[in-house]
Amino acid sequence: MSNFGAIIAGTGSSLPKRILTNDDLSKMVETNDEWITQRTGIKQRRVASEGETTASLATDAARKALDAAGVRAEDLDLIICGTITPEMVFPSTACFIAKELGLNNTPAFDMSAACSGFLYAMDVGASYVRSGRYRNVLVIGAETITRITDYTDRGSCILFGDGAGAVVLQRHEDPTRGWQYGSLYADGNGWEMLYCPPGSRNPVTKEMIEKRGQYMRLQGREVYKFAVTRFEELIEDALAKCNLTHDQVALLVPHQVNQRIIDSAVSKLGFPSEKVFVNIDKYGNTSAASIPIALDEAMRAGRLKVGDVVLFVAFGAGLTWANAVVRI
Ligand code: UT7
Repeated sequence: MSNFGAIIAGTGSSLPKRILTNDDLSKMVETNDEWITQRTGIKQRRVASEGETTASLATDAARKALDAAGVRAEDLDLIICGTITPEMVFPSTACFIAKELGLNNTPAFDMSAACSGFLYAMDVGASYVRSGRYRNVLVIGAETITRITDYTDRGSCILFGDGAGAVVLQRHEDPTRGWQYGSLYADGNGWEMLYCPPGSRNPVTKEMIEKRGQYMRLQGREVYKFAVTRFEELIEDALAKCNLTHDQVALLVPHQVNQRIIDSAVSKLGFPSEKVFVNIDKYGNTSAASIPIALDEAMRAGRLKVGDVVLFVAFGAGLTWANAVVRI
């Protein structure tokens, strides 16, 4: 048992203004609103315009989280950004965010765990706070996933949107409040299910671009099967490890991957749908940003109060998967 709690002192989110509807997509690839809605639950997604970047969305979300927490940027001890669409290959997106917040000696780094990126980052941030090393840690999930989306591939381009969400984790004297439990997993054997080729193995060349190799590749059906199984396991694991029943969980905030995946897992486990936070219809899958955006919307809608237990589950490229239990 840790000496300190790591509470969520404030949340924030940021979404690009530009909306891409299913009807818009039906003019770009052979698809239609009915297919996308039935197979995914998505009606529209947000797309970053020129000048909007992962770091700019992240910084906007961070400022709102700092405001909500009543914490000044100068009082941050650490910044962690979960992203797979960084501002640049290097330096880290977190360094750009720190600069925008006016900081010049606060440690900052990125975590790459795809759609599990925010839960990985929160787990690490909470460890620093609970150990007593840091008092205020800014944890962000931010993506401009549409920048690596192939808008000629109907199997993937309908799914993704851009955005950012942030939380301020803060030391609290009561360890029964805040982050309570989390587990992190990875299995690189499944990397081919979802990946984006450019990098050391595939330096960017003219030939790569000609074959559209700069964009992500997705085996949707395979990820679907993986996600349904993992989703159920992650929920059951969190409940068992924390000695919780469904009734004691105020809200389940899953990675917004696909309405059908969420429905199938929660109905199998008998989790009431009104306790599951879903906003995939508005934003699509925003990868590492999806959980903190959903959490921020839930907080601002008054869905959570002090003492409530929130359960988070995520899975994504890597393969990676993770869960977390937080007492607000
Ligand atoms: O967060 C991690 C990243 N997220 C994911 O990896 C998403 C996980 N996977 C999924 O959400 C689903 O697998 C998809 C939404 C991607 C696809 O749904 P599905 O029910 O698994 O469809 P499917 O891939 O089995 O395709 C069914 C049919 C195929 O046609 P045939 O072969 O049956 O004639 C596809 O070619 O639907 C066709 N299809 C489409 N039709 C209209 C695939 N994409 C589209 C489309 N519009 N956009």
